[in-house]
Amino acid sequence: MSHEIDLSDPGLPVHQHRRTDTDPVAEKKAERQVALYFVLSALGTILFIYAYIFIPITSFVFVPLLGSTNTHQLMLGLGLTFSMLFIGLGAIHWAKQLMPDSEVIAHRHELRSPKDERDDFVATVKERAAAAGLGRRSLIKRTLGLSLGLVGLSPLLLLRDLGPLPEKQLETTSWAKGVRLLTDPGDRPIKASDLEVGAVAQVLPELGAGVRRTLNSIAKDAVLLIRLRPEEFRLSPERLSWTHEGIIAFSKICSHMGCAVALYEQQTKHLLCPCHQSTFDVPQAAKVIFGPSARPLPQLAITVDDEGYLIAQQPFTEPVGPSFWERSS
Ligand code: FES
Repeated sequence: MSHEIDLSDPGLPVHQHRRTDTDPVAEKKAERQVALYFVLSALGTILFIYAYIFIPITSFVFVPLLGSTNTHQLMLGLGLTFSMLFIGLGAIHWAKQLMPDSEVIAHRHELRSPKDERDDFVATVKERAAAAGLGRRSLIKRTLGLSLGLVGLSPLLLLRDLGPLPEKQLETTSWAKGVRLLTDPGDRPIKASDLEVGAVAQVLPELGAGVRRTLNSIAKDAVLLIRLRPEEFRLSPERLSWTHEGIIAFSKICSHMGCAVALYEQQTKHLLCPCHQSTFDVPQAAKVIFGPSARPLPQLAITVDDEGYLIAQQPFTEPVGPSFWERSS
């Protein structure tokens, strides 16, 4: 069924032409604006590529409101944002101001074909299938089914590209026996005397020559050092031997869903995760006292080397990070 529209119908609103349709100066101006958007988009892409190749992933910059921010990620984000945003703005401006603005009539037909056409189609399919011998050639029919079925399965293999399961990833970190604790930021070895009672510091492991930090390793290796008075601990003898002069070290990744545990309340000696408010009691080896986390933050055993610098006694004895998949409910 078609529906005719009469453009001369006096009931239709009069078409309003844009300024760019009637004024060559306005048209030229709009053209320059569109070009400017596309140039800004290109600059965004160049920034993205530059950041990806030349800005080290370990560099940080102070940004008002955000604080210390990873420069590599910041520039990647800004570059991609500018690239996408301005190409979109340019396309919209182009379409609204410069693309043809004439009104057209779209005749609508019934989507369903008439009955005789449908019957024709069915007859043709049957005729061609018979001609191809699909009914007779059962071998071809079966092998075709097999190949199509396997083609459907092949995308499942791509799931392997997602990498190992997270709990396997988190079983190993760069911490090992004798590895020094380095300040982050700063990359300086740290002594017990550098931390006053009540102080907190973030540290990363010293890596071997030529080994570069990746975002993945930084996320897994980040450790928080907190100094209490030794008598404030309520730890088993073994866990107490993992501390040094009142300094205790925990993985910084929340054992709920992996956010950075970043808030330390000096009065209560609680570590708080800002994501879902899991609260860990530092004197009790980061025991969970509130929130959804299912287990304490893994503790890193520390001591000092011959020069008095803090080192790890051993790797973490349990996976760091989220453990929600271990929960039964
Ligand atoms: S990620 Fe820390 S409480 Fe959820």
